[in-house]
Amino acid sequence: MSGLSDSFQRPVDYLRVSVTDRCNMRCVYCVPPQGVRFLPRSEVLSYEEIRTVVEVAAKMGISKVRLSGGEPLVRIGITALVRMLASVKGIDDISLTTNGLLLSQYAAGLKEAGLRRVNVSLDTLRQERFSTITGHEGLDQVLHGLKAAREAGLNPVKVNMVVMRGINDDEVGDFALRSIRDGWHVRFIELMPFTTHSAGETQFIGIPEVKQRLEFLGPLEPFRSIKGNGPARYYRFSGATGTIGFISPVSEHFCFGCNRLRLTADGRLRPCLLNDHEIDVKSALRGGDRAGLERLIREAVASKPRQHLLTQGQRPGGRAMTQIGG
Ligand code: 5AD
Ligand code: SF4
Repeated sequence: MSGLSDSFQRPVDYLRVSVTDRCNMRCVYCVPPQGVRFLPRSEVLSYEEIRTVVEVAAKMGISKVRLSGGEPLVRIGITALVRMLASVKGIDDISLTTNGLLLSQYAAGLKEAGLRRVNVSLDTLRQERFSTITGHEGLDQVLHGLKAAREAGLNPVKVNMVVMRGINDDEVGDFALRSIRDGWHVRFIELMPFTTHSAGETQFIGIPEVKQRLEFLGPLEPFRSIKGNGPARYYRFSGATGTIGFISPVSEHFCFGCNRLRLTADGRLRPCLLNDHEIDVKSALRGGDRAGLERLIREAVASKPRQHLLTQGQRPGGRAMTQIGG
């Protein structure tokens, strides 16, 4: 079969596209305390340029695209981009990761344009805590967004919770209960250390401990049939319509199954989320050099490292998370 695979024989069929480095929130683990300087507009890829990258990548074997940010819904005309990408031959799955603030307005249009499913970042169900974590009011708006996404037929709608000791770890049970009572698909994520963000190492809490804290709800059964392209392992509680996913970038290496490449808003391919190495494709794009673009995509895939080195103390520090899009 044709297709892309890296130097460790991992097939690469998934591209995450950061459409903007701007965001309407300032989450503690994502935006550095001093803030970030936004890219000048001229540096940001146009929708046509993003489509070109996706077209070339699709010819090479990429079939799934996720839009992220910053916050993708703050970029004007995002629905039009979804429509453009949905018509690219070879792309059969388009998803989006959002903080949910604008989701209730956009959900139906996005679905109609060809978006399949959505992940919503939500770390607390408590009003005052929400503003402490995100620097913004708006828990109710996010909850509306989740509802609107489900009603629009986006499926699945997943809720991403980054678990932080002393900040929101007392809510893991509340989130898990939502999977039982309200059919939520909840994913618990370990806090990844970036030198650029203000949530520190002391807030880290491993997935094994999160699992222990969920034991009061009964046994978790492995569950395989939820749609996803990533490193999460899925389970559910007996009788629940929703699921529980665990993402442990730190305590367990999830790199062995890594299938992805990232494109930053300013046109660089980033072979690994947790490694600062990047390859510029903007010049090739703006020079109309499709063959060059193809070569650079191949080079990016070939330079994917075997695994991140967080446990050996290596920290990515070049870009903040908000500039990569998770
Ligand atoms: N550690 C773990 N998850 C993070 N995210 C953002 N920054 C971090 C971090 N430092 C999550 C967001 C979002 C996804 C894109 O990545 O909550 O759900
Ligand atoms: Fe914005 Fe998402 Fe980062 Fe929060 S996690 S600051 S919502 S990009």
